[in-house]
Amino acid sequence: MPFGYPVMLEVGGRPCVVIGGGTIGEGKARGLLSAGARVTVIDPKPTSGLEDLAATDAVTLVRRSYQRGDLKGVFVAIAATDDGATNAEIFIEAEAERVLLNAVDDSQYCHFAVPSIIRRGDFLVSLSTGGKSPALAKSLRKKLSREFGEEYAILVDLLAEVREAALAVREVDFDTWAGRWEAALEHDLITMVRDGRHQDVKDTVWRHLNSERGASVGHVWIVGAGPGDPQLITVKGREALDRADVVVYDRLVDPSLVEGKEAIYAGKTPGDHSAPQEEINFTLIRLAQQGRKVVRLKGGDPFVFGRGSEEAEALAAAEIGFTVVPAPTSAIAALAAAGIPVTDRRFSSSVAIVTGHCGGPRPVDWRALAGSVETIVVLMGLSNLDFITEELMAGGLSAEMPAAIIENGTRPDQRVIVSNLGGLAEAAAPAGPGSPSLIVVGRVVTLRDKLLGQSG
Ligand SMILES: C[S@@+](CC[C@H](N)C(=O)[O-])C[C@H]1O[C@@H](n2cnc3c(N)ncnc32)[C@H](O)[C@@H]1O
Repeated sequence: MPFGYPVMLEVGGRPCVVIGGGTIGEGKARGLLSAGARVTVIDPKPTSGLEDLAATDAVTLVRRSYQRGDLKGVFVAIAATDDGATNAEIFIEAEAERVLLNAVDDSQYCHFAVPSIIRRGDFLVSLSTGGKSPALAKSLRKKLSREFGEEYAILVDLLAEVREAALAVREVDFDTWAGRWEAALEHDLITMVRDGRHQDVKDTVWRHLNSERGASVGHVWIVGAGPGDPQLITVKGREALDRADVVVYDRLVDPSLVEGKEAIYAGKTPGDHSAPQEEINFTLIRLAQQGRKVVRLKGGDPFVFGRGSEEAEALAAAEIGFTVVPAPTSAIAALAAAGIPVTDRRFSSSVAIVTGHCGGPRPVDWRALAGSVETIVVLMGLSNLDFITEELMAGGLSAEMPAAIIENGTRPDQRVIVSNLGGLAEAAAPAGPGSPSLIVVGRVVTLRDKLLGQSG
């Protein structure tokens, strides 16, 4: 296997030579410089960039072609000459002087390959194809660069900090220590860094490294699945699902999202209270206490009429770590998919998202709402449709005010019934929309024809 043994060289303060001062040679010289090497470039006509570097004494320029003897006392040499015969001569000297040589794009004269890298502080990803396909390495580098952002530099520093402190008080043997690290890194630490929760990263890792209990506690991700179309889950939500050991999911979640997973159904149908909230909270806590990675998957956004906040509170009380992963709520996204914007500066500059479930502890004041908001989106309101429309009219809204019902928004069986406030209940009756449906009232409904025309 060519270049089968990967190493990273310490070139700091050591003499390194680049033979060939064209654009590629300049790039190589800059790479060596950024790793702290003492760099000499040999070329009769170096680039202006190299001249600039030489002017500040960053590199030493030797303005002539390669001569035997140039590798004397050198640690690492790079031949960027474009000339096979010269590379061959350099290689002969490198062999004799025991100098490590890389001849650019000329692997027969290389002692080492230079991988494509992604550097984020002390975090470094190195990609190599053994010199066989630099283009593949480059294209993968581009892809991975997006995945490994600057937050990895921060994560490495945070881990180093905890490691140093924990090493000072370490009492367990190496295997236990390694196991605890493994468990600590199972947590979604990178998301914590992205969210600016640096202390949480340190606390989480510290807990694992220093206690039996910490090592066995799992984590819960409270994830929004989006309004219905399974493709509308977020990237972050998808990643959490992929990582999960077990998923506890709701009725409105598309079944394809939990396919192939250990999944526990915790759904409720309207009027059916077979899975009380306390029981769901208890299930989440119990699973996490078994050390499992749990995703609590909920329709829409978990904090919009989703009881996600109650679950988060219960987890916090039980000292279980959790992460909330938001998602598009049906109250906005299902409207957009039906060609109805929640706001539009010509028709509406305010929107209210309310529950039509009238028996709750905080009933909506429909009459006050009618006079104060221009777009009203009602979730869970179908069974009280008559009452809601009457109350809104009693509050001053005209019977002519455009209104619609969206059933199964963003799903293949999406249906939209468009009418006006006075006629909505009657228009809905023959169509018989079922759950999930939402009601929207406001002049923005009139935009639907035009906006659907745009999206085809
Ligand atoms: C308990 S609430 C949960 C809302 C969810 N957290 C969200 O952000 O979309 C359930 C209600 O949301 C509405 N809903 C959810 N998904 C919907 C969809 N795809 N189409 C229409 N309405 C939907 C319905 O009114 C349903 O009764």
